[in-house]
Amino acid sequence: MSETNPENALLIDELKKVRLEAQKLSSALADAWEELTLLYELAEQMRGVLDVDQAIELALVHAMDILSAEGCGILLKTEGDWELHGANCPKGREEWLYSDLAKSLAEETLRRRRGFIFNELVHHSHWGEMARIFNVFNIASVPINPGGHAQGSLIAWNQNQGEFTSRDLKLLSTIAAQTGGVIESAFLYQRLQQTFRGTIRAMAVAVDAKSPWTAGHSIRVTRYAVDLANNIGLSESEIEKVEISGLLHDIGKIGVPDSTLNKPDKLTDEEWQIMKQHPVIGYEMLKDIWQFRGDILDGVLYHHERVDGKGYPFGLKGDEIPFMGRLLAVADGFDAMTSDRPYRPGMPKERALQILMEGAGTQWDKDLVKIFAESQKSK
Ligand SMILES: [Fe+2]
Ligand SMILES: [Fe+2]
Repeated sequence: MSETNPENALLIDELKKVRLEAQKLSSALADAWEELTLLYELAEQMRGVLDVDQAIELALVHAMDILSAEGCGILLKTEGDWELHGANCPKGREEWLYSDLAKSLAEETLRRRRGFIFNELVHHSHWGEMARIFNVFNIASVPINPGGHAQGSLIAWNQNQGEFTSRDLKLLSTIAAQTGGVIESAFLYQRLQQTFRGTIRAMAVAVDAKSPWTAGHSIRVTRYAVDLANNIGLSESEIEKVEISGLLHDIGKIGVPDSTLNKPDKLTDEEWQIMKQHPVIGYEMLKDIWQFRGDILDGVLYHHERVDGKGYPFGLKGDEIPFMGRLLAVADGFDAMTSDRPYRPGMPKERALQILMEGAGTQWDKDLVKIFAESQKSK
């Protein structure tokens, strides 16, 4: 065996070092690549999300994919109060996120408008005691939308290696920034939806209030119609249209004089002609609101048509009557029969169902009456 040449030994040593360095670099590169891929995936999945809860869930799943921690959670501040909106951690360990400790940390994050790490939380003068109670040893917390409407904090706790690093904080901040925009638009969209729904409800109440005899009519018709839609098996978005159409179906009565609506006696021919205009008046009122186009307006315009062609305003027959019109006609007829009128008390439910069934195929859609009667009998 020959002795190793000292020059060769030096070279081998050098080679070992380079190999080690290369290994470190490639593992760092692999980590960075993995993080980038996860963040890219998050951005991809967030596209088109218009629901606050869905955005939060996506953010939490990705945060836990990237971080090595016990858990993470998102708190949002609504009307001055902190509320937990989601957590990703072993069952039961999210409990501390409801406590004042989490609220106080979230508030501090928002106040600073930037993320921070506490690796010695249990020794902290203010938070230490509560942190010990909940076994929260260290945290990394970053703000969400500090200048927006849907403000919040993303908090991760108990780093598995014992300490959060500035790299963890950077990753969390990236996730919070990606999620923040989506949460903000989803929040504003939801608020807009609430305003829209509130306005529709107010319109329904306003038209029903025109006459003591129609109080609550639109709300009840909507309830019956939604029940029927559920029993048919319509989709969630179709049921939402049924709800709006039900609430607005008689909106045109705003154009009918109170004296006619409140008249306890039989209407004159002239009054009846005006009354029969309410579907068209309602349609004219709403036709320029694009969200109502299609099924919703169909319900407003056609809910007094009859399948035998003797209805109004157009005298359409059978399937010529759009589906929403036929559906609301059943719910409307049932409420008209079971509610009190100036000239008669409301009839019992059983009698009204019987009349509906007798009129199935002439006044009302046969199949719809059948489903409606079956569902109402069991109530
Ligand atoms: Fe009507
Ligand atoms: Fe009605």
